[in-house]
Amino acid sequence: MPPRSPRTSAPVVVSIGGSVFLTGEGDREYLVRLAGLLKRLGRALPLVVTVGGGRTARDYITIGRDLGLTEFELDEVGIEVTRLHARLLAACVGPPTPADPPTTVRAAAELVHRASPIVLGGTEPGHTTDGVAALLAVRLRAARLVNATNVSGVYDRDPRKFPGARRIARLSWPEFRALVSSETDGTAGQSFLFDRLGADSLSRSGIALAVVQGRDLENLEAAILGRPFDGSRVEV
Ligand code: UTP
Repeated sequence: MPPRSPRTSAPVVVSIGGSVFLTGEGDREYLVRLAGLLKRLGRALPLVVTVGGGRTARDYITIGRDLGLTEFELDEVGIEVTRLHARLLAACVGPPTPADPPTTVRAAAELVHRASPIVLGGTEPGHTTDGVAALLAVRLRAARLVNATNVSGVYDRDPRKFPGARRIARLSWPEFRALVSSETDGTAGQSFLFDRLGADSLSRSGIALAVVQGRDLENLEAAILGRPFDGSRVEV
């Protein structure tokens, strides 16, 4: 089989949660390995990566809320943190990845065919970087969206709070959307493994979602390449 090239392979979008990106433990080693993986895969297929704001974004949002900022202003604060993380990862990946992360879905979608992998943070208020990743996947007609998160798949209950939570290997879009809407209300800085805009956009376009533990890079690579992986799949 001839080697795959970015021109002939379908794009893939990856959403990396801020809570995976910086945990306070082994972050340096993780970021070096993650950047290496993205650089290598970005040469083989058009790859776009969004990065979340994690605890840092939530800390700023909490103080901003105490100070009386509006939800819109808090979202803007969160976006700045996601862009800071994107800049850090983009610099680790190095050229041709643009050092200045694109600030719109349109710019990222145009750039990816020239400078894969593209790394970016948030775009506008009202959703999270998962939503940005989903809009990108729809725009690019991506083969799949991989959500690299801090749990190893979709569970029937929060596995960090309920030790007996059961992982669900396969879900339909209606099942997943019901789970997302019961766990999120659209306020700034909330944390669930996916957001409403993301679930609605992917479901409408019939794009598959893979959910994996983002620190497990072998598994993340398998999910990006469309190979069998350990985690959950949401499909039509
Ligand atoms: P995140 O993408 O980090 O969302 O954006 P999250 O789900 O809360 O956190 P993690 O990283 O997955 O744990 C942080 C916040 O920034 C705002 C939202 O308030 C979001 O909760 N944001 C982000 C936007 O308003 N628009 C964007 O495009 C991105």
